[in-house]
Amino acid sequence: MAARIVITGAGGQVGRFLAGEAARQGREVAALTHAQWDIADPKAAERFVAEGDLVVNCAAVADVDAAEADPDTAHAVNVTGPENVAHACARVGAQMVHISTDYVFSGEQRHPYDVGDQTGPLSVYGRTKLAGELAVLAAMPDATIVRTSWVYTGTTGNDFVAVMRRRAATDGTVDVADDQTGSPTYVKDLVDALFEVGQGRIREPVLHVANEGACSRFEQARAVFEELGADPDRVRPVSSAQVARRAARPVYSALSMALSVRAGLTPPRPWRAALAEALGEPFDDGQLPSTP
Ligand SMILES: NC(=O)c1ccc[n+]([C@@H]2O[C@H](COP(=O)([O-])OP(=O)(O)OC[C@H]3O[C@@H](n4cnc5c(N)ncnc54)[C@H](OP(=O)(O)O)[C@@H]3O)[C@@H](O)[C@H]2O)c1
Repeated sequence: MAARIVITGAGGQVGRFLAGEAARQGREVAALTHAQWDIADPKAAERFVAEGDLVVNCAAVADVDAAEADPDTAHAVNVTGPENVAHACARVGAQMVHISTDYVFSGEQRHPYDVGDQTGPLSVYGRTKLAGELAVLAAMPDATIVRTSWVYTGTTGNDFVAVMRRRAATDGTVDVADDQTGSPTYVKDLVDALFEVGQGRIREPVLHVANEGACSRFEQARAVFEELGADPDRVRPVSSAQVARRAARPVYSALSMALSVRAGLTPPRPWRAALAEALGEPFDDGQLPSTP
């Protein structure tokens, strides 16, 4: 196991959870926020990375519409940034794990995408994330890319499950798209997989990590309501065309972990089981009124 875990983008959803878990496990952690380490700065990495470190790049422009609105920043953070980190890791002899996305796929397939399936990103976000994967592997061929999808905490911030949890606790209906299908991933399960990858025994350049199964956003929202004892019929299906958004999303981007499990990763649990656990955790931003 690497002596120290260095986390970029540690103020974000995945970075914060990873830092918390690593500290809970008693590991030495350097959790660096955007303000502390701007990965787009080519000179910065060498200040933070040392021989033997495990560096997990959680920094990204992960807001799909923000990336579409500002492609230059998206390129700097999603392509040049990871490339900078990879060069630094290769130079000093650190291990690197880089997080990527289901949005590298076009959505034309109708069965879960596995490693090696044809990519075809539809958005600036997807294109820059795919270019970031290639840049990392070119700079450091023994880095590991972990593609994940539809990540949520369910307990804080504005991820989809946390938002639906707040809505479930109030009155009224909520309109949710029923024409986009993906694999929800509980951040805890993603982080467990990142630790597994960090042990360095799985020697594949690209891995997929997602909870097992697929659903639409509508089905996911209904599941949140059901788990919380709220009326799932308060969730109403709409077409994504009714929700105007800047960037195109793949209509189907479920991920298969079959090849990743064959490579050594622990098989994922079903998305409903992971969701139930997430919703069993207390809401931690004080915004949730009592459960209806
Ligand atoms: N969330 C999902 O559903 C999902 C799905 C698939 C893949 N992923 C991938 O998972 C990874 C983590 O995403 P997330 O959900 O944790 O996103 P997030 O909550 O938006 O976190 C990203 C973090 O990166 C930071 N950042 C932005 N520009 C930076 C820079 N130049 N240098 C250093 N840090 C910078 C952000 O800080 P500021 O906010 O201060 O700029 C933010 O704290 C990303 O690679 C994302 O593409 C996420």
